[in-house]
Amino acid sequence: MQAFAYRSGKLFAEDVSVEDLANRYGTPLYIYSRSHLQERYRAIATAMAEVKPLICYSVKANSNAAIIRTLAAEGSGFDIVSGGELFRVLKAGGKAEKVVFAGVGKTREEIEYALKEKIRFFTVESEPEARRISECARRLGVTGRIAFRVNPDVDPKTHKYISTGKKENKFGLDLERALKAYEMAAALPNIEIAGLHVHIGSQILSADPFAEALAKIQPICLALKKLYPSFRCLDIGGGLGIQYKPDQETLNPAVFAQSVLPILRELNLEVAMEPGRSIVGNAGILVSRVQYVKESHFKTFIVVDAAMNDLIRPSLYQAHHEILPVTETPRKVTGDLVGPICESGDFLAQDRELPAVAEGDLVAALSAGAYGFAMASNYNSRPRPAEIMVDGNSATLVRRRETWDDLLTAESP
Ligand code: LLP
Repeated sequence: MQAFAYRSGKLFAEDVSVEDLANRYGTPLYIYSRSHLQERYRAIATAMAEVKPLICYSVKANSNAAIIRTLAAEGSGFDIVSGGELFRVLKAGGKAEKVVFAGVGKTREEIEYALKEKIRFFTVESEPEARRISECARRLGVTGRIAFRVNPDVDPKTHKYISTGKKENKFGLDLERALKAYEMAAALPNIEIAGLHVHIGSQILSADPFAEALAKIQPICLALKKLYPSFRCLDIGGGLGIQYKPDQETLNPAVFAQSVLPILRELNLEVAMEPGRSIVGNAGILVSRVQYVKESHFKTFIVVDAAMNDLIRPSLYQAHHEILPVTETPRKVTGDLVGPICESGDFLAQDRELPAVAEGDLVAALSAGAYGFAMASNYNSRPRPAEIMVDGNSATLVRRRETWDDLLTAESP
């Protein structure tokens, strides 16, 4: 199903008119499709069914409670990277026993919270972190289950800011160091070796780097399996790319599965995976209203009420988000779609062919479900947008628009 499509010239989110939602809830507005989320989750689960993976949706992609709740109902686990994400997952009905906790900088407070809640395991990024988990677990009289994250040094051929499995990246342990780290950690009190974790980056459009990474870690997994009876799980991370441009090839879960399943089959370990973007990316759009059309000597600027604080991906990663008019028009104009923020980097599209819209019209930035609202800020004291979840012909406000009062709630002037 196409979650966002035109019907008689008007853009719809499932069976709900985007224009009606924008009129009712204001703009900028994030709109999500629940069936798209469910479909994507199920597509991954089906493609990988042979190894019955624990799919741990990567909460950082979009942490709205309605999204967590929808995926928890599908049976999803969760990949978290902070105490705040664990808090959200538990509040939204996720199960701690299906939570894996990544990140290079876990604090004592976060580790103790996760231990008390009995998460599945920590994916551990360094030796000092393993020691800290051991200390915390000992103090609490519990066992910390860990999987070291290894860095297989493969090039995922994605934007350099979202590539994580190359030797120069801050993530994980070099393969050569990993066995020693396991030996050290296994000797620590209150630690159980649960498995191994690998995540090489995000928005990866070919299955090859995944297969390459698995081939590189296969020998060490076999060795660890022999050494530690509790070593049972291989967490293969996330990173499956999605379609941002209409003509872009994407990595469909079935193709991904075909290339990773042979090694997973041989390893015969429990499999966890951490997809984020591939579940939620194309389940969301950001709708904004045109404020002005400004003609300069050189360019046409379409100024909308969404900005880099609402969707930072174009500014930060030169990311492409398709821009559609909410009311179809065949007319085009070349120029920039910009927001009101005081930075030249504040654009949603630059030097692009855009719909020729006028003041008051609505436009939608597509593929904004992942790392959209999750990366939004209050920069320039802009309240963050509202979020809507559509399900068939019903639409629910799942986060109200922030107000100017909200901007001051945590301050004590
Ligand atoms: N697991 C770990 C350990 C991760 O660090 C990430 C993403 C994921 C899973 C999920 O990856 P995904 O399936 O979503 O590709 N803000 C950037 C993306 C940052 C990705 C960070 N880590 C963007 O907007 O492109």
